[in-house]
Amino acid sequence: MSALTDRFGRVHDYLRISVTDRCNLRCLYCMPEEGVEFAPSSDLLSYDDIVEVVSVAASLGITKLRITGGEPLVRPGLDGLVKRLAAIDGIRDIALTTNGVLLAGQAEALRAAGVNRVNISLDTLDPARFKFIARRGDLNRVMEGIEAAARVGFAPIKLNCVLLKGVNEDEIAAFLQMAKEQPLHVRFIEYMPIGHADDNWRNHYLPLSRVLEIAEEQQLGIGRKEGIIGNGPSDDYTIVGGAGSFGLIHPVSDNFCQRCNRLRLTADGGLKPCLYWVDELNVKSSLHNREALRGLFMRAMDIKPLNHEMAAKLSNEAQSHEPTARRMSQIGG
Ligand code: GTP
Ligand code: 5AD
Ligand code: SF4
Repeated sequence: MSALTDRFGRVHDYLRISVTDRCNLRCLYCMPEEGVEFAPSSDLLSYDDIVEVVSVAASLGITKLRITGGEPLVRPGLDGLVKRLAAIDGIRDIALTTNGVLLAGQAEALRAAGVNRVNISLDTLDPARFKFIARRGDLNRVMEGIEAAARVGFAPIKLNCVLLKGVNEDEIAAFLQMAKEQPLHVRFIEYMPIGHADDNWRNHYLPLSRVLEIAEEQQLGIGRKEGIIGNGPSDDYTIVGGAGSFGLIHPVSDNFCQRCNRLRLTADGGLKPCLYWVDELNVKSSLHNREALRGLFMRAMDIKPLNHEMAAKLSNEAQSHEPTARRMSQIGG
């Protein structure tokens, strides 16, 4: 039995590592326009610290890593970190989640360092709407990032589209067409109520059943797809004659916690057994002590809950436990 098996028999082989809580965008589902108080850089794990934690995690059965943020590409020298992580015994897959804005300039170095694949946020195909959702940045830079990702050989390239009622739901058909015409895997994501004001979430939450209705209306001839490379929660679909495919990530309307295989490490050292709840174990006081670090991972298995309770928020039901007050950008998505 893997060392990282929790009380419910779930085996953990995937660690999501946030390297910064900072970001060059202010997406309305993630951060307020004025930003949030960022952790001072002295609070962040250094690259040496991250390598040390991952080497212990790998000895316990972690084989897949995902680098996230905030926006990971705003932290200097990321390719150097990736090179060191790729050299750790047992690490077989290193992926990156990015908003794409800085990707064109870094894609080649990251690929050479050992990143295999990238997931890029893309919530709209309309430049003016991009300004509304992301509040900063420029859709053209993201498009250039997607092109660069293809050019340097990341595969598959996944696009993450958070669906927002009244904001981008009218683009579902266009995103499905994009998946039909281009060799991209477009994933629609339900807006999650993580660490931010409930009102914003309630006003914009949209269940993903809408995507399947539109695929039907467009007569795309969809079927379930197995075997897309990935370690996450997406349910994937093929499109008849399509160059690409699409996926649905639906934590609220149908949670996938029973197949959860992941742990998270925040930029300031919090080892989180679950995205949703407040619990985290800080690794900082256990650095330079492999036994203590191993102990933290084992403890994370002991306290990992069975599931989140995001759906309860729709009906204002009481939560069984305390949800985190940290935002997605502070956890790593
Ligand atoms: P791969 O399948 O390996 O490509 O990655 P992924 O889908 O896990 O990674 P990505 O960073 O692209 O995440 C996509 C979306 O899934 C984000 O909105 C994440 O917050 C969400 N997500 C990933 N893991 C979990 C999880 O354990 N619980 C919940 N509720 N959402 C998750
Ligand atoms: N709900 C759903 N997805 C979110 N992301 C960030 N915040 C939220 C939220 N509240 C997505 C980003 C990125 C991924 C890591 O998480 O768009 O693609
Ligand atoms: Fe930045 Fe990602 Fe949050 Fe958008 S979702 S503000 S890209 S961290």
